[in-house]
Amino acid sequence: MKYLNEIDIAGKRVLVRVDFNVPLDEKQQVRDDMRIKTALPTLTYILAKGAKLIVASHLGRPKGKTVSSMSLRPVADHLSRLIGKTVRLAPDCIGTDVLDLVSRMQYSDLILLENLRFHPEEEKNEDGFAKDLAALCDVYVNDAFGVSHRANASISAITKFAPVSAAGFLMQKEITYVSQALNHPQRPFVAIVGGAKVSGKLPAIENILKRVDKLIVGGAMANTFLKSLGLDMGQSLVEDEMIGVAVSVMKQAADKGVKFYMPVDVVAAERVDAEACVRMVPVQEIPPNWTALDIGPATLSLYSEALYDAKTVIWNGPMGMFEMSPFSRGTMGMVQAVASSHALTIVGGGETGEAVQKSGISDRITYISTGGGAFLSLLEGKVLPGVAALEST
Ligand code: 3PG
Repeated sequence: MKYLNEIDIAGKRVLVRVDFNVPLDEKQQVRDDMRIKTALPTLTYILAKGAKLIVASHLGRPKGKTVSSMSLRPVADHLSRLIGKTVRLAPDCIGTDVLDLVSRMQYSDLILLENLRFHPEEEKNEDGFAKDLAALCDVYVNDAFGVSHRANASISAITKFAPVSAAGFLMQKEITYVSQALNHPQRPFVAIVGGAKVSGKLPAIENILKRVDKLIVGGAMANTFLKSLGLDMGQSLVEDEMIGVAVSVMKQAADKGVKFYMPVDVVAAERVDAEACVRMVPVQEIPPNWTALDIGPATLSLYSEALYDAKTVIWNGPMGMFEMSPFSRGTMGMVQAVASSHALTIVGGGETGEAVQKSGISDRITYISTGGGAFLSLLEGKVLPGVAALEST
């Protein structure tokens, strides 16, 4: 795989695929610009080298149709402010008008193409569409880590047609951090896995178990593990069909000598509601009809102690329903615990990243991934289609 700093781009047309799939607020303004800011090193480098910069992204899931609320217009405006330069939004991402626009660009200028997913061929990874995109450039750069787990035309097929393909700086950083942690960790290596369902995280857990010294589970998925020990979880979310799998995961951990940590207490509520009556209870004492919605203080203390000697930490998935304030202490407490450890700390996944940003101490985490599904795919040990495509050139 080639990297951006290894290729000559001066005087060339450079198409950069980024992941500017950012949340917009009710006024159609960018609500969280982390994905735009983290792509800036690549974009400013290309401009400084005197290339024509053509930026391409998707936004949302318009399902192959032009949907005006998913136009990249707000992103173009936001990027203009961040980069201190007018960012022109092209009317489309392929076609003669766009080719014409690119031919009239000055060097060290940039344009943003309109949403790639307005064309159904993008998500179908179609060669014809990829060829049309590649016709816009001399050099293709993939800096869209967040969507590189999707075999889309602008991620995968395009490398068959672009004269030169390379990975951008964000892509390079994401892959380097995660593969360093998974393949050459300083030990003890601790993984923290949370979120709602064991089923969604099972391939990641199975891959991680081969590598870590300690595995900490939290979030609603911990309920399934607790129930497999015969505990009554009340009305808590449990995947009954995964109970056998939970038992087998714990056995695999024991066989491999991986220390396995589960909640010892929870924050339980009468209903799933921020106004509901709440109690902190040992996991053995969840009242019938109550729901576990966060890890409790004793668990937080236990998990913080387990992190004490860690040298490498990877975290994906919140400890509870942190978007409701009565159930946010476990997740926010874990951010503190991870930030206070002396380890190399990597956090990924949309919700976990959001919790870290909210905490105000994100600068104390070594690396926050911009990927949700892409980060999880790396934890599962998969080669991302975007990486495979770059490697095949
Ligand atoms: C993301 O936000 O995870 C990426 O941009 C991918 O988006 P998608 O899940 O709609 O493919």
